[in-house]
Amino acid sequence: MLPYPLDHVAVAVTSLEEAVPLFELLTGDSCSPVEELPSQGVRVLFVGSIELIEPLGPDTPVGRFLQKRGQGFHHIAYRVPDLSEALSRLREEGIDLIDETPRPGSRGHQVAFLHPRGTGGFLIELVQAGPTE
Ligand code: CO
Repeated sequence: MLPYPLDHVAVAVTSLEEAVPLFELLTGDSCSPVEELPSQGVRVLFVGSIELIEPLGPDTPVGRFLQKRGQGFHHIAYRVPDLSEALSRLREEGIDLIDETPRPGSRGHQVAFLHPRGTGGFLIELVQAGPTE
């Protein structure tokens, strides 16, 4: 079931509203509506294939990320046809998972993250399209 196509690249920002105009200018796209994901402590939107993520507060994973590293690259997401199958496959390959099972992500999709300690420090997200797509 490989390869998995690129779904999006995510950048962490301190303010969605301040960051959006640059990405709209570069792509000619309009941003998607803002989605708030309290379970992940973020607000997100998309401009084309770029996901902008803003922490809901300083004491969230992305809030701590910004304090430590500042604005910038946060994660790469790949589209998979079957997330549970992809997770067990990667687990068999010895990749550490943050999410052992799929969880709800933005845009009605199911998502899971791989642990950066098994990927050379990269945060990787796997996305399975929800029933709306
Ligand atoms: Co993402």
